[in-house]
Amino acid sequence: QKVDMSVVEKGKGYYINYKKMADNLEIVRSRLNRPLTLSEKIVYGHLDDPHGQDISRGNSYLKLRPDRVACQDATAQMALLQFMSAGLPEVAVPTTVHCDHLIEAQIGGAKDLARAKEINKEVYDFLATCTAKYGIGFWQPGSGIIHQILLENYAFPGGMMIGTDSHTPNAGGLGMIACGVGGADAVDVMADIPWELKCPKVVGVELKGKLSGWTAPKDIILKVAGELTVKGGTGAIIEYKGPGVESLSATGMGTICNMGAEIGATTSVFPFNDKMAAYLEATKRGDIAKLAKGFQSYLLPDQGAEYDRHIEINLSDLEPHINGPFTPDLATPLSKFAEAVKKNDWPAELKVGLIGSCTNSSYEDMSRSASIADEALKHGLKVKSKFTITPGSEQIRATIERDGQMETLSEAGGVVLANACGPCIGQWDRTDVKKGEKNSIITSYNRNFTGRNDANPATHAFVASPDLVTAMVFAGSLTFNPLTDSLKGADGKEFKFSDPAGIELPASGYDPGEQTFSAPPDSMDERAEIKVAIAPDSDRLQFLAPFKAWDGKNPTNCPVLIKAVGKCTTDHISAGGPWLKYRGHLENISNNCLIGAINAENEKANEVYNQMTGEFGAVPATGAHYRDNGRPWVVIGDHNYGEGSSREHAALEPRFLGATAIITRSFARIHETNCKKQGLLPLTFKNDADYDKVQPRSQVDLEGVTEFAPGSEVTMVCKDLEGKEYARIPLVHSFNEGQIAWHRAGSALNLMAQKARE
Ligand code: F3S
Repeated sequence: QKVDMSVVEKGKGYYINYKKMADNLEIVRSRLNRPLTLSEKIVYGHLDDPHGQDISRGNSYLKLRPDRVACQDATAQMALLQFMSAGLPEVAVPTTVHCDHLIEAQIGGAKDLARAKEINKEVYDFLATCTAKYGIGFWQPGSGIIHQILLENYAFPGGMMIGTDSHTPNAGGLGMIACGVGGADAVDVMADIPWELKCPKVVGVELKGKLSGWTAPKDIILKVAGELTVKGGTGAIIEYKGPGVESLSATGMGTICNMGAEIGATTSVFPFNDKMAAYLEATKRGDIAKLAKGFQSYLLPDQGAEYDRHIEINLSDLEPHINGPFTPDLATPLSKFAEAVKKNDWPAELKVGLIGSCTNSSYEDMSRSASIADEALKHGLKVKSKFTITPGSEQIRATIERDGQMETLSEAGGVVLANACGPCIGQWDRTDVKKGEKNSIITSYNRNFTGRNDANPATHAFVASPDLVTAMVFAGSLTFNPLTDSLKGADGKEFKFSDPAGIELPASGYDPGEQTFSAPPDSMDERAEIKVAIAPDSDRLQFLAPFKAWDGKNPTNCPVLIKAVGKCTTDHISAGGPWLKYRGHLENISNNCLIGAINAENEKANEVYNQMTGEFGAVPATGAHYRDNGRPWVVIGDHNYGEGSSREHAALEPRFLGATAIITRSFARIHETNCKKQGLLPLTFKNDADYDKVQPRSQVDLEGVTEFAPGSEVTMVCKDLEGKEYARIPLVHSFNEGQIAWHRAGSALNLMAQKARE
C-alpha cells in the first residue's frame, strides 16, 4: 500500500517506505542477534549498506539514507548555493525550506512580517526561485517556524530526517529520528550522498505515573536537562518509554524532543502510540496513522533492549521546573524557585514573559495559557509584565484566532507576534530596558544563553512551561508560585489560579489559515526555465563558482598563513554575530576567515606576517594576497581544531581564499570532513610534538600528495623564507578512497557534477 510521506506532496511519488526499513532490520538483526532499542530500529532501518556497515554504538560511523531534508532560511542560503554548484537538476530526496529566522519582532505580527519581507526581499526571492527550480517545497515568510511546520506536515513515525537547525529533533514527537546538521550534510543528502553519523548511544528515559495539574511536558525535559546537563546527551539518542508516555500529547512529546538539543543529544524519540495517531488524524494524515499501526512492532523498542544509560521519572511526583538563567540545565523546582531568586540575587521583577516558539506553541499550549488568562480576566486583572505570544505556524495562529484563545490572550494584554522565530533567535527590537541593565524575562522557548534573546548580557532569561510564564506575567514577579500563592483581583479579593485546562486537539479541526506554501512546478521543463534570483550587486548573496580541481602536483613553497595557538573553534575560523548577514555571500563572509585565531608569532588575533610584502596584515587579506599571486597556503593548528558547530563556512572560506592544506595536531571530526568536502587537505602531525618545530614564518612543500592513498603519509618540508630547509615532518590523514576523489575533483560537489555530466 502506497502512502504519501506528506499531505502537501500528494502524488509526487514520495512514499513512506516501511518495507525498506523492515528489510534492513532483518539483515541487521541476523548480524547483531540481540534485542534493539527503538532508536536503533529507526537508525539501522535507514542504513545505506546493512550488510557491510560496521555497527558499534558510540564508535563506528554509519552511512545513512534519510527520508527528507529541511532547511531554515538562514542556513538554507549557503546550502542551496552549494547544491546549485553540483549541477544536478533536482534534489534527490524531498526537501523543504522555511522562512522563519529573519523576521524581527518589533510591534506585532502583520507589521513585523511586512517589514521583514521588505528587508529580506533579496534573500526570499533567491530562496523562492531556487527552491522552485530544484524541486524543493518553499514555506514563505509568515508560514511559521520550521519545526512546527515539519510536525504538522512532514514528520511520521519511523522516518528519518535531517534539518539545518539544531531543534530539528522536535519531530521525535511523532516518532521520527530527526537530527540537526550543518549545511554540508544537508547538501550531501540532497545530492544523493549518504549521510554519515557516529553510531549513537541510546539513553533510555522511563516515564512512570501521569502528568497532572501545573506540571506540563516541558517540565519533563527541564528535569532531564537538570540531570544530564548541557553535555550529557552528547553522541546519544534520548529514547522515552514507559507507561507515562500515554499521558502526553504528540505536541507535548514534540516539546520534549525539541529541547533535547539543549543537552547535546543527537536527537530524541518517542515510541509510536495512540496520541501520535490522533495528531496524525487531526492533521489530515489518518492514512499514515493506519499504516504505522500495521507496522507498530518496528516502532517500539524490543523487550530486553539494552540502553547505555537509564533514567526514571515518575510524572505523578514531578514538579514544574524553571531553568536558568544563562544556561538551560540549571533546573530549579518551582517550590524552591522564589528562594533561589533571592539567594542568587536574580532580579525578582518580571519584565517580559514570552510564550510560543517552535518549542511550545501547540493548540494545547495556547489553550492552557488562555485558560489561565481567562481566569485572571474574570478577576479583572491584566498582565503586569509585558507578554508576547508567538504562534508556531499560520495554522496554529488561524486556529487560535478562530477558537478565541488569541482574543483572550490579547485582551489580557498579550501581543501576538509573527509566526516566526523572533525573540527566540534574538530577532527582537526590545525597547523596555537599556543594554546592560540587569533584568529578568521568562520564556517558554528552549535556549537561554547569555544575550540570546535580546543581545543584552545582563538579561536573566529563564525557561519554563507556557503555563508558568502566563501565570507569572499576571503577578509581574518571578517569585510567584501559582500552586501556593494568591493574587488580588480587581475587587480586592484574593484568588488562586485553578489548574490550567487545555484542549489537546481542536474539536472542529485545524484552520489552515492563509496559504503560505509554494510547491515547486512538477514539470522539469518549466523548472529549467526558472532563473535563480541573485542580483549581481548583492552583498548578501553570490553564486558559488566551482573550486579548481587539483593540479596533480605536490604543493610547493606554500606560505604558512597562520600558526594558530590554543583553541581554534569554528567561531575563531568563521565568526558569527554581524557576519551572519553574509552567509549567502562567500566572498564577503570570507573577510572573517580565521580572524579569531591567535597567531603563535605575536599572540595576536588577525595580525599575520605577509611573506610577500614583509608587512603585517589581517588574516583574510593576507590569504587573498597569496591566492591572487599564485601561492596556495597552509594553516598550522593545535588540538581539536575546528571544534564547535558544523558550519561549513569554516571550510569554505579558507578554500575560497586559497588554502591547500590545514595541518593540525588533531581535528574536530565534522570540521575535518567539511574540509575534505571542499577539496582541502586536512592533515595531522604524526608526532604530536612536531607542531612545535614549525616556525610561523615558514613556507612548506607537501611531498606525497601525488601518491595520496588511504593510510599514506605526506612529508611536510619546512623551509625558512630564504628557502632553506629546517625540518622534514611526517603527516598522516584519514581520507578514504571516495574522499580522495573529492580532493582530486576540487570538492565533493565538483565530483557530483562530474558524475552528473557523465
Ligand atoms: Fe526558531 Fe527558536 Fe526554534 S530560533 S527554530 S523558534 S529554537
